[in-house]
Amino acid sequence: MLHYYDPSTASYQPGQSQLNPDIDYGTPARVSEILVSIAVDGREITVPDGTSVLRAAALAGINIPKLCASDNLEAFGSCRLCAVEIEGRRGYPASCTTPVAEGMQVTTQTGKLAKLRRNIMELYISDHPLDCLTCPANGNCELQDVAGAVGLREVRYGFDGENHLDAETDNSNPYFSFDPSKCIVCSRCVRACEEVQGTFALTIEGRGFDSKVVASQNDPFMDSECVSCGACVQACPTSTLMEKSVIDAGQPEHSVVTTCAYCGVGCSFKAEMKGDQLVRMVPYKGGAANHGHSCVKGRFAFGYATHKDRIKEPMIRDSINDPWQVVSWEEAFAFSAKKLKGIQAKYGRESIGGITSSRCTNEETYLVQKLVRTAFGNNNTDTCARVCHSPTGYGLKATLGESAGTQTFDSVMKADTIMVIGANPTDAHPVFGSLMRKRLRQGAKLIVIDPRRIDVLNTPHGGEGLHLALRPGTNVAIVNALAYVIVTEGLEDQDFINNRCDTAAYNAWRTFIAQEQNSPENMEAVTGVPAEEVREAARTYAQADNGAIYYGLGVTEHSQGSTMVMGIANLALATGNIGREGGGVNPLRGQNNVQGSCDMGSFPHELPGYQHVNDPQVRSQFEAVWGVPIDPEPGLRIPNMFDAAIAGTFKALYIQGEDIAQSDPNTQHVEAALKALECVIVQDIFLNETAKFAHVLLPGSTFLEKNGTFTNAERRINRVRKVMAPIAGMEDWEVTMALSNALGYPMHYNHPSEIMDEIASLAPTFTGVNYEKLEQLGSIQWPCNDANPDGTPTMHTLDFPIGKGRFAVTEYLATEERASRRFPLLLTTGRILSQYNVGAQTRRTSNSDWHEEDLLELHPSDAELRGVKDGDWVGISSRVGHTVLRAKISERMLPGVVYTTFHHPGSGANVITTDNSDWATNCPEYKVTAVQVEIVTQPSEWQRNFQSFDKRQQALLASAKQQGDNAHATSLK
Ligand code: SF4
Ligand code: SF4
Ligand code: SF4
Ligand code: FES
Repeated sequence: MLHYYDPSTASYQPGQSQLNPDIDYGTPARVSEILVSIAVDGREITVPDGTSVLRAAALAGINIPKLCASDNLEAFGSCRLCAVEIEGRRGYPASCTTPVAEGMQVTTQTGKLAKLRRNIMELYISDHPLDCLTCPANGNCELQDVAGAVGLREVRYGFDGENHLDAETDNSNPYFSFDPSKCIVCSRCVRACEEVQGTFALTIEGRGFDSKVVASQNDPFMDSECVSCGACVQACPTSTLMEKSVIDAGQPEHSVVTTCAYCGVGCSFKAEMKGDQLVRMVPYKGGAANHGHSCVKGRFAFGYATHKDRIKEPMIRDSINDPWQVVSWEEAFAFSAKKLKGIQAKYGRESIGGITSSRCTNEETYLVQKLVRTAFGNNNTDTCARVCHSPTGYGLKATLGESAGTQTFDSVMKADTIMVIGANPTDAHPVFGSLMRKRLRQGAKLIVIDPRRIDVLNTPHGGEGLHLALRPGTNVAIVNALAYVIVTEGLEDQDFINNRCDTAAYNAWRTFIAQEQNSPENMEAVTGVPAEEVREAARTYAQADNGAIYYGLGVTEHSQGSTMVMGIANLALATGNIGREGGGVNPLRGQNNVQGSCDMGSFPHELPGYQHVNDPQVRSQFEAVWGVPIDPEPGLRIPNMFDAAIAGTFKALYIQGEDIAQSDPNTQHVEAALKALECVIVQDIFLNETAKFAHVLLPGSTFLEKNGTFTNAERRINRVRKVMAPIAGMEDWEVTMALSNALGYPMHYNHPSEIMDEIASLAPTFTGVNYEKLEQLGSIQWPCNDANPDGTPTMHTLDFPIGKGRFAVTEYLATEERASRRFPLLLTTGRILSQYNVGAQTRRTSNSDWHEEDLLELHPSDAELRGVKDGDWVGISSRVGHTVLRAKISERMLPGVVYTTFHHPGSGANVITTDNSDWATNCPEYKVTAVQVEIVTQPSEWQRNFQSFDKRQQALLASAKQQGDNAHATSLK
């Protein structure tokens, strides 16, 4: 059991952490049943066995000077500043490397210790520039603080001897600089890169005076293995590693704790401000999802918030060929309401709909679906989760009874075998990827099921992982083969199955799965994975004390996405790997609020809390609060909206924070649908690809400009706090509210906390959630209700929401999208660390220095066959479209499989993906497209059309912005 320090009793207690995230306790916490009491300067303190003296002293409120120690790194003992005297021991042991012992009497301040510390500091300072007044760290420098704390008044050694003061600064990284003249070689950066980030990009080269920090093989940071996570910058006690934003703007003055708006890890950050200017984002140690770690996106890529491309004024136009007209918010709402009402009067109530965004807050998402169900009077609401994790909702609800992952991220630290299926944690969920790597370094076994060799397989000191490099589209075949081995080799957890699972469903599944057709040997021809590897993987997972499965869009974005999710749940049920830490079924969510947008009732068939819209009792509860009747029929899903638009029955769409023209498959089909609509209302921070087809453009607000909550992949509800005023004057929830009022359905909230109160009153899993509790607890993992007032870290511990776990029969059916003579290669898509989704945000930051364009990765043999060399332009054709990308030859690919990212709109990655989709949820089959690749010399026709359309729309926007600026200038006269 974990013990936490309780300041009220000055001892360690089991239960909720009372640690102050703003204090560095010097060395990491230890976990032990054995408690040890010591006295530090006469003050008694009780801590778990294994705790360092330095940490125990800090917990007792006594600060021992330190430089090389930090509480997120194992003690190193190099600076000796933390020396103490211990009764009965000789000399001056370093308190950071000395563990507590029962009855120990420690003294931290004596004349001898003071002299020793001053001498050490003097040596440090004698090789350190004395430019504190002009140093960017001035006022926030540990070296400066310690010099003050030890009373250093003079440096007897001059600067005439050998020193490092002329060492050259490395400015290659766009976000931080490395000035070795200030380095004290404490090794904190090196250890942070190893222990926290797991990249091992830094080393100390040389010995003694010559020792220095180097990146990779003494390369500039930008050319090294560094992934720019910022952990070393965070760890550095001097200004050697320093954010360029701080160098430019100066030290921040105040800070606000908020949540990263990029991926589904949901890292907490301190937004450090100078007035209204965001100076830096510092990962917050109190964040339960990230514990003070970050990745390059959340840490550094925030410049888009103040980018010149931001839409700052509402705009309207009658046709997408017309110039934009800058109008007031009121005019924009009136124009929108008139259009929507007119369309409904002419084409019927069902002719309009709305799309919510997984990038927006829970409260905003809730309001958009509410607007559709009340003001629009239909259920034509859907969300971008349709195209990513809708099969997770379906598959987990059917088998486990709840549409969500079962664990905390920290649970991975108790996993003995980690299976990663169709996910790329180090790129798409980097902070969780680092945690996973930490566990792999501790000896957990790794199984990766992916057509591509992902980076987690190359975890330094992480052991040999097992890579089942399957053919795209054969997930279900492999999950069935794994289950076959578990069943036929007697690896099931019969107790768990007997006690926790539905017997009839289990028997049906067992009969099916034990059939010879599912054996690894039979499936080898389908999956391309040697049977023996499948058998080894099945045994490794099933025989682990704790086996955990993590999966991503490589599972869901298939024609059998929902089947595969159920297949994964079957594995966990069959082996009893559910309901405790270290196991579970864990969907890794791509965007920050995918979980939340699903929870909030964005799907057409479900009201908030996954309550079916055709249930009269559910509807009556909502009708009582919302005051209008709710349509009992599920509305249109996004692909149905496109089809209906092209068919002429669907005429208007309100889209908040989503870029369907870039992110949805078969771009030409999406564009045709958008062009067919009579009214497209886009609420976004930029003129995204969809907004180019819009008639109303409502400025959106970034996560920095609003209050609300996001729910991460662990079901953790985190607060989003406003750190600056909305650039266009309104937060997104206020915009939806005003639109609703203009449509005649009254909405009145003074603050998003009131929206959350309404959500809590209607969604059973949110009953106990409110802003006050979020402030108290920091974050809450739903379900949070009377039974679980502080939330639920691990789901299904005693039973399932559906009573018993339900095995599902998961027959493998080959996708219709197969390689053929005409299209002999299979294209699969994914993400890259530096970019985020459609790239609208990250492309407007220096993150593009790492990834300027989407590339087509292909295996050397496929390249050779086509005469393709690295960097050549290649045309990629599928049965729905054609685009052109530059080639990257990569051993990571299987022969016959090609890969690209989709972060740049001009790449047209989705011009070639088809509208094949998951049988249950219509989640598109992005991961399997049969293509041909050949060398070309010019962009595709679609790309040429895209460029000219983009140019025209940018010009229309520029003239509108000029109009707005002129109006503003006139009003100032
Ligand atoms: S930024 Fe991260 S990856 Fe790069 S050197 Fe620092 S800790 Fe290592
Ligand atoms: S760069 Fe900073 S953290 Fe790294 S060794 Fe030098 S002073 Fe220590
Ligand atoms: S891991 Fe995800 S949530 Fe965390 S900083 Fe990176 S992008 Fe943001
Ligand atoms: S802090 Fe203990 S030796 Fe440096």
